[in-house]
Amino acid sequence: MEARERPIVVFDSGVGGVSVLRALVKELPGERFVYFGDSANAPYGPRTTEEIRRLTLENLRRLDGEYGFKAAVIACNTATSAAISELRAAWPDRPIVGIEPALKLAADRNPGGTILVMATETTLREKKFAALTRRVQAGCTVIGLPCPELVEFVERGETDSPALEAYLRSRLSPWLEGEAAAVVLGCTHFPFASRVLRRILPPQTELLDGSEGTARQTGRLLKQAELLRTGGRGEVSFHSSLPGREILDLCQRLFETG
Ligand code: DGL
Repeated sequence: MEARERPIVVFDSGVGGVSVLRALVKELPGERFVYFGDSANAPYGPRTTEEIRRLTLENLRRLDGEYGFKAAVIACNTATSAAISELRAAWPDRPIVGIEPALKLAADRNPGGTILVMATETTLREKKFAALTRRVQAGCTVIGLPCPELVEFVERGETDSPALEAYLRSRLSPWLEGEAAAVVLGCTHFPFASRVLRRILPPQTELLDGSEGTARQTGRLLKQAELLRTGGRGEVSFHSSLPGREILDLCQRLFETG
């Protein structure tokens, strides 16, 4: 198959990367996307960096064997933090795009403000996040808030419920009165809790995530490499390491309803 006809693999530890897939399809509607969520091994956040790196590399190797992808999007902040350099070294000939927390965007839009970054513990402890924070820190206060349980709510398909609201209210209690200028959703599962977050956070607190920036960057790199499809209808297919229809139906529902 001609290189530009090959699919783009979109990878996450579970169903969260569907929030990035939505932005990718909007940006690149003519492309073929293969979504893979490693829900059998989710959550990645509490695992060691070595484990996350191994799982990510193994999954990508298998996906390449199966689909021969022309590009891969690591739609997982945690896997990007742990494995992006190794992935780029393994596939030096193809675009490998990684998502990262939209901290720069938040700082540019809120100079001098307090920015809260909700993410997994791995994303917050890795060097990549420290480097990102140093680059934007001038004048802004950056606070990292690990929210591992939120990944599990979304993996169960629970995106709006009294239990989820109670969890988020307690996790965000110091910021419910308007202290934060922006909340960065630094884990791709978290945009699916936006309805609840919007309900409990003050209206002036911005909610930002990295999905649109990642989709634009994917388009730029494909164009540069002359790998954009030139015709035909786009496609999306869902795959998971968890057996059964249920998880694929959840991906489809999250894809359609956000
Ligand atoms: N969705 C992932 C992220 O963007 C991680 C969730 C997890 O497996 O802990 O960080």
